[in-house]
Amino acid sequence: MSDYSRTDAAPSIGPDHHDGLRYPGPDAPFYLATGNEIAVFETCHARGLPVMLKGPTGCGKTRFVEHMAWRLGRPLVTVACHDDLSASDLTGRYLIRGSDTVWLDGPLTRAARHGALCYLDEIIEARQDTVVVIHPLTDDRRVLPLDKTGEILDAAPGFQLVISYNPGYQHGLKDLKPSTRQRFVALEFAFPSPELEAEIVEHESGIERDRAIALVTLTNRLRQLGDRGLAEVPSTRLIVAAARLVAGNIPVRAACHAALLGPLTDDPELLAAMHDLVTSTMP
Ligand SMILES: Nc1ncnc2c1ncn2[C@@H]1O[C@H](COP(=O)(O)OP(=O)(O)OP(=O)(O)O)[C@@H](O)[C@H]1O
Ligand SMILES: [Mg+2]
Repeated sequence: MSDYSRTDAAPSIGPDHHDGLRYPGPDAPFYLATGNEIAVFETCHARGLPVMLKGPTGCGKTRFVEHMAWRLGRPLVTVACHDDLSASDLTGRYLIRGSDTVWLDGPLTRAARHGALCYLDEIIEARQDTVVVIHPLTDDRRVLPLDKTGEILDAAPGFQLVISYNPGYQHGLKDLKPSTRQRFVALEFAFPSPELEAEIVEHESGIERDRAIALVTLTNRLRQLGDRGLAEVPSTRLIVAAARLVAGNIPVRAACHAALLGPLTDDPELLAAMHDLVTSTMP
């Protein structure tokens, strides 16, 4: 059983960390829903279904998971996946302490033991032999066999697997196998409507609504240049960054150049085209 409930363990300020688990703080991480994703996620949680979040960079996937962990009152374990990540990095390993050998749970095992949400970010970066360790946790058995200790761990109530990836980065070689993909309920994330995106920007930066709308309108024009060679169009995250500069009294055009354009590309022609757009639309 989980040893955690929000009422007795929540700290009074901000999120807290124990045993590699991040416990939600008293205040909800701000997340503005763009569809029925909260209801679908809650239903998946109640029914033991793992979830995959698909969407471009900076569109709110991580924030959504943090918000859901808070809503469900579960601790959160996040793993940033990469191609060096091994199955033992997820499940755990024996460590030598003095003359003893002690077993140390990895993040996946810890999450399963404590009934946490386990968020495997950019799962597509992990190798196949690493990804398969999550398979027994994603079917009805909800178990994690730990080969090295011989334990077959039953996932505690509340445990839920969440994976995310950016379909735009797939290059043939990097894809999830169908046997992995078909274990998850998919939630597709896209950039919010201009009204919602302006609300997010206003909330995240503290700038006035009119200025948030102007930044969102500009960004949507920049997004239309996407097919002229941008690897990824500007995200909500970039608008928030520009807005935070504006909130810190950086002139709006300079803020757009630094936070909205610069991170997108090094291509001088594309930068010049985007620069013109900023100059013609921003006061
Ligand atoms: N729906 C939303 N509600 C609230 N904030 C949002 C939302 N969408 C985006 N944001 C803002 O955008 C920022 C970036 O979002 P987030 O880090 O969740 O992106 P991501 O999809 O996880 O990106 P990546 O794939 O690069 O990890 C957040 O810190 C937040 O300020
Ligand atoms: Mg993220």
